[in-house]
Amino acid sequence: MSNQEKPKVAWVAGVGARAGLGAALARRFAREGLIAAVTGRTAERLGAVAAEISAAGGKAFAFAGDVSDETSIRAVAARVAELGRLEVAVFNAGNAARAPSLELSVQQLEEAWRVNVLGGFVFSRAALQALLPQQQGTLLITGATASLRGKPPFAAFAAAKAALRSLSQTFAREFGPKGIHVAHVVIDGGIDGERLRNNAPERVKAAGEDGLLSPDAIAEAYWQLHRQHRSAWTQELDLRPFKEPF
Ligand SMILES: NC(=O)c1ccc[n+]([C@@H]2O[C@H](COP(=O)([O-])OP(=O)(O)OC[C@H]3O[C@@H](n4cnc5c(N)ncnc54)[C@H](OP(=O)(O)O)[C@@H]3O)[C@@H](O)[C@H]2O)c1
Repeated sequence: MSNQEKPKVAWVAGVGARAGLGAALARRFAREGLIAAVTGRTAERLGAVAAEISAAGGKAFAFAGDVSDETSIRAVAARVAELGRLEVAVFNAGNAARAPSLELSVQQLEEAWRVNVLGGFVFSRAALQALLPQQQGTLLITGATASLRGKPPFAAFAAAKAALRSLSQTFAREFGPKGIHVAHVVIDGGIDGERLRNNAPERVKAAGEDGLLSPDAIAEAYWQLHRQHRSAWTQELDLRPFKEPF
């Protein structure tokens, strides 16, 4: 079978809860007939996301891995390659440690860097190595308000997300001319997912109807980015709820 005839694969790293952006992205790509490969650190949660996609008639495979561990991601990349031809890779892992700057521990700062920057580099490199020989494909990277603005209590998160954005620009300039579309998405608001529902229910309530970003609506924008014609590529897209101040 030639590479062109192989099944198309979407690899999403940073998948956890079924009610989260990573899961919504995997569902959206699977709905278009791509095989979804989902990666996160918790096998049980990945299994639930893959099972939900399969139950809806799609194809999905769960490959547990830690984006900040090069050996782990290399092993997952090899499994992903066995599924077919990588079309789109999404780096969605992220953690937002909160603390006033003087109370932030070195460990928190290092962990934010490890997941977002080291993880963003390790994952993107593995994806780019698969995409480059094909001279086409998409690498999408999830950012946040903090990608553009340093503000307490997010010193560690903002520093890490800004560096991840910088990586996305470097990759876009380096690999765009080789046919690879690299785009960074600034999620400028809270996501209506498990993280906020569990950790900040009062914020969810205060946001009101459509005051938080719907994971499915974000996933639609990622799909459209992937679909863009190469004569008109977006490098950075910002998404926010209609009533979010900015
Ligand atoms: N939630 C928000 O309000 C919000 C706002 C703006 C931007 N964002 C960004 O949006 C993205 C998704 O956020 P989300 O809250 O909706 O979460 P999500 O997509 O449901 O899940 C992301 C998952 O990434 C996994 N992950 C974390 N560290 C990892 C690592 N080292 N290796 C592999 N997987 C890892 C976690 O699952 P495990 O712990 O099971 O590995 C986590 O559940 C993040 O990049 C975040 O910064 C979120």
